[in-house]
Amino acid sequence: MSTTVIILAAGKGTRMRSNLPKVLQPLAGQPLLGHVIETAKKLQATNIITIYGHGGDLVRQTFPEEKIEWVEQTEQLGTGHAVKVTLPVLPKDGMSLILSGDVPCVQQSTLQRLIDASNPTGIGLVTLTLDDSTGYGRIVRKNNKIQAIVEHKDATEIERQIREINTGIYCVSNAKLHEWLPKLSNNNAQGEYYLTDIVAMALADGMEIASIQPEFAFEVEGVNDRVQLAALEREFQNHQAKTLMQQGVHLIDPARFDLRGHLTIGKDVRIDINVIIEGECELGDNVEIGAGCIIKNTKISANTKVQPYSVFDNAFVGESVQIGPFARLRPGAKLANEVHIGNFVEVKNSSIGFASKANHFAYLGDAQIGSGSNIGAGTITCNYDGANKHKTVIGDDVFIGTNNSLVAPVKIGNGATTGAGSTITRDVADNALAVERSQQFTKENYQRPQKVKK
Ligand code: UD1
Ligand code: CA
Repeated sequence: MSTTVIILAAGKGTRMRSNLPKVLQPLAGQPLLGHVIETAKKLQATNIITIYGHGGDLVRQTFPEEKIEWVEQTEQLGTGHAVKVTLPVLPKDGMSLILSGDVPCVQQSTLQRLIDASNPTGIGLVTLTLDDSTGYGRIVRKNNKIQAIVEHKDATEIERQIREINTGIYCVSNAKLHEWLPKLSNNNAQGEYYLTDIVAMALADGMEIASIQPEFAFEVEGVNDRVQLAALEREFQNHQAKTLMQQGVHLIDPARFDLRGHLTIGKDVRIDINVIIEGECELGDNVEIGAGCIIKNTKISANTKVQPYSVFDNAFVGESVQIGPFARLRPGAKLANEVHIGNFVEVKNSSIGFASKANHFAYLGDAQIGSGSNIGAGTITCNYDGANKHKTVIGDDVFIGTNNSLVAPVKIGNGATTGAGSTITRDVADNALAVERSQQFTKENYQRPQKVKK
């Protein structure tokens, strides 16, 4: 059975008080709508139709690579009207999952259960039982069978006591959507075309309404303001942290861990507090991440230890590497196995060979460093001449003295040594010593000036 996913995303989101359309507000580093699209793709939906309105161009431009059919709803006349505008592009057969762009956390497994429950009947919904159901559409049942969804504003006092609510997530036969939606009316308390009225139509057709509840309540929580956004962020983070711990990660404090993307992990990974993982990251067996690290789109191989407050972006780190504290790996940093990178060392677009070390205060940019080399404290690769970037090539077993300026393009041969304080502007041959500094001047028994007494 082919499944279409319809995402309602035309709402303005006035209560966010933002210039950004609500469905583009980020949750765990990704726009709300991006989460829903990701879930739709996991379900292998045959097509994804997104209804947009407010901030439409920006919403569309945010997902340029996605195969989405965008349908504009110029006026927000209600949820039923929103789905109705998709009819010209909606297939005539199969089922549609109807989701909201501002309900980002619904899990694939819950939607799969909804599809399975709805398939035989042709219509099903996700409901939830709440302590306080104020504001939501209420699920009216008789002999346990769903009879209607009544919106809060249209509900009687008795109906308002009902705690089972409509989450706004449905699975409906496309043939039936084509039949029912043109018949909706806006004769209700809000003067809107209610999607929920299809329930009454299904009953009139003698159909039974299937329903399921989500595994977790946060899956169906919507975002209307920044307070709800922050609360949902925390719930989502707690859920991700729990999943990682169940996979074997040792999170020192799951309440102080943030994953904004995806993390693949080996065995016995340990993550200290206040670590942020962004984009696509991978941590190998026994990797340890110290407190306060920010790691983005980076792979860190087995047995590597990252000390606190290190920041990585689009880097690759080999096995048994030691990094930090306060190290910075920028895009294109590639560290081979057993490399040591110490405090206040910045590496950009550079490869550092097996067991080489830069332990203190250095900038290594556009450099290629061999194995077993040592970069002295305070060394800078002068890669930029004000117009172009140039490369520094350092061989194997090189010793770069403290506080060197290596003016690129420059090449230091295998086994070469440079003296402390040198500004190296010319290539150094294999096994040579290069020293570039003025001779030391010494005056014996020097008398320092004395303070004049007044
Ligand atoms: C809707 C349901 C209610 C349910 C609640 C769950 C109806 C009539 N009611 O109510 O039973 O308990 O969701 O949160 O459906 N949207 C559009 N175009 C429109 C109107 C809405 O795209 O013309 C989008 C909104 O951006 C939002 C979603 O549809 O993503 C739901 O709309 P909203 O106005 O929040 O519906 P509720 O009145 O809360
Ligand atoms: Ca709502």
